[in-house]
Amino acid sequence: MNSILGLHTSNTIRLMNTASPRSLPVKRIATPLPIKKSRLVFVTEPAGLAVEQYKILHRRLCNQHPEGGVVLVTSPSPGEGKTLTSINLAWCMAEAGRHTCLVDMDFRAPGVTLTLGCSNEEDGLEEVLTGRRTVHQSMRQVGDRSLYVLGINKALASLGGLLSSDSIVPLITELRAMFHWVILDFAPVIPMADVGEVLPHVDGAIIVVRSGKTDKSLIAPSLEILGSKIWGVILNDSVINGSAYYGYYGMKKG
Ligand SMILES: Nc1ncnc2c1ncn2[C@@H]1O[C@H](COP(=O)(O)OP(=O)(O)OP(=O)(O)O)[C@@H](O)[C@H]1O
Ligand SMILES: [Mg+2]
Repeated sequence: MNSILGLHTSNTIRLMNTASPRSLPVKRIATPLPIKKSRLVFVTEPAGLAVEQYKILHRRLCNQHPEGGVVLVTSPSPGEGKTLTSINLAWCMAEAGRHTCLVDMDFRAPGVTLTLGCSNEEDGLEEVLTGRRTVHQSMRQVGDRSLYVLGINKALASLGGLLSSDSIVPLITELRAMFHWVILDFAPVIPMADVGEVLPHVDGAIIVVRSGKTDKSLIAPSLEILGSKIWGVILNDSVINGSAYYGYYGMKKG
């Protein structure tokens, strides 16, 4: 009852959308094939331990943030598993019946777009942010799932003002009203300044560190940059029962 009394307008819209998940009027892409190197474990190893870890992560997020939200996924430096985490987590959320939007926001290394094969000729995040396309024109539904992807049409070396609050706030506001969960696959924290532009407008941030790869001296400065927005830390590529797997630890209490 509490949650009903406490709802804001945007939450009400979200509940209406998620009560009976139905397709939004957007184009579709095919469900990805089970290609091992995609590391989309829900497709490649649906009975594996990694899938269980993502389900545990999802359950923890739902327990701590039942209203859903806009979540930025980042890491201290490149190659630590941001894209892998974003795709599998978003897949898991959609499988649980929640309208979920996965946004590729890493313009320099658009991994979601490459992994899911959702590069759209003239429809992409840049086009939406610059007002040349609407969200509905650029978004793609993955098969008939509750999973929607906003990809990147072409990689960019420099972002200019693309992620300024003038363009990012309307986008996040629109996505927040349409979806229960919005996952932003973002650039690394340390070498880039981009995170500072978007962080104030998201509900929470998840940082991915990779066992045996992440430079430990970068973790504290990364956490400091994310500040109070940090929702949790994912330990990727950790060893569980003797095998290297995708793991997590230390989700911060709501
Ligand atoms: N736990 C893991 N086990 C095996 N391979 C992994 C694991 N995590 C990541 N990789 C591989 O490492 C590479 C980098 O992973 P991913 O693209 O998810 O990282 P990223 O942080 O998004 O990188 P970038 O900074 O380039 O965007 C990919 O080839 C991915 O398949
Ligand atoms: Mg990536």
